[in-house]
Amino acid sequence: MSERIALVTGGSRGLGKNAALKLAAKGTHIILTYNSSQKEAQEVVREIELKGVKAVALQLNVGDTSAFERFAAEVLSQLKHVWQRDTFDYLLNNAGTGLYAPFAETSEAQFDDAMNVHFKGPFFLTQRLLPLIKDGGRILNVSSGLARFAQPGSSTYAAMKGAMEVLTRYQAKELGARKITANIIAPGAIETDFGGGRVRDNAQINQMVASNTALGRVGLPDDIGDAIAALLSDELGWMNAQRIEVSGGMFL
Ligand SMILES: NC(=O)c1ccc[n+]([C@@H]2O[C@H](COP(=O)([O-])OP(=O)(O)OC[C@H]3O[C@@H](n4cnc5c(N)ncnc54)[C@H](OP(=O)(O)O)[C@@H]3O)[C@@H](O)[C@H]2O)c1
Repeated sequence: MSERIALVTGGSRGLGKNAALKLAAKGTHIILTYNSSQKEAQEVVREIELKGVKAVALQLNVGDTSAFERFAAEVLSQLKHVWQRDTFDYLLNNAGTGLYAPFAETSEAQFDDAMNVHFKGPFFLTQRLLPLIKDGGRILNVSSGLARFAQPGSSTYAAMKGAMEVLTRYQAKELGARKITANIIAPGAIETDFGGGRVRDNAQINQMVASNTALGRVGLPDDIGDAIAALLSDELGWMNAQRIEVSGGMFL
């Protein structure tokens, strides 16, 4: 199999870190991004290199479209320098933060922040990176179970994820000419730092999720990292334009 390179946004912690490690374990080289956790990102690079593949960490705020041109130039420069290539194979749009605010109390500033990070950012980042994605490559976006079921306090966040689900189908349609697939994974509630670590650290929330999940527990980062590595495998190259929920059967 020829060399594969994945660009993983938000690879310094949580699901992005886990996915990067799982992809690396299958021989995929990694470009990961961090927003503020430079030290953690460098540690992930070290862990990936121990698996025998190459990795670099680049700073990126996905909520700031004005930085995307510089970022794309840096990605190209790293591709040339580290891999002697000018394209990568897989784009995982994973970076993001939580927002919990009742619909009636959500401010315009909160809405704009969520939109910038969870919709506008991935939209224009992917557009900007298109020339660097190899023909036949893959885009995997990240949604949430919350785009299917409704939990109070997540209207803005979930609506942005819903927008990403629609965008994914359009990306699949329009990028098919280049044999690039676009799919979107929707994790259920997973124990990470997300939302201040509430699913992991708040026993009441943890129990509520577990008791509403068919498999009887909260999701773990490994559940999603493994799924992402599987979704980006050669065996699933014919899957296109799909939303795949990976939640252990939450709120069925
Ligand atoms: N955990 C869950 O229950 C769950 C469920 C469904 C969907 N998701 C989705 O899964 C994705 C990852 O979540 P997670 O649980 O791994 O969260 P996490 O543990 O809080 O990690 C978030 C990651 O995203 C990066 N990030 C945050 N804001 C950013 C920004 N403005 N620009 C660039 N990078 C940014 C962080 O970088 P720094 O460390 O450098 O700040 C970090 O690497 C998100 O899209 C989230 O919506 C999570």
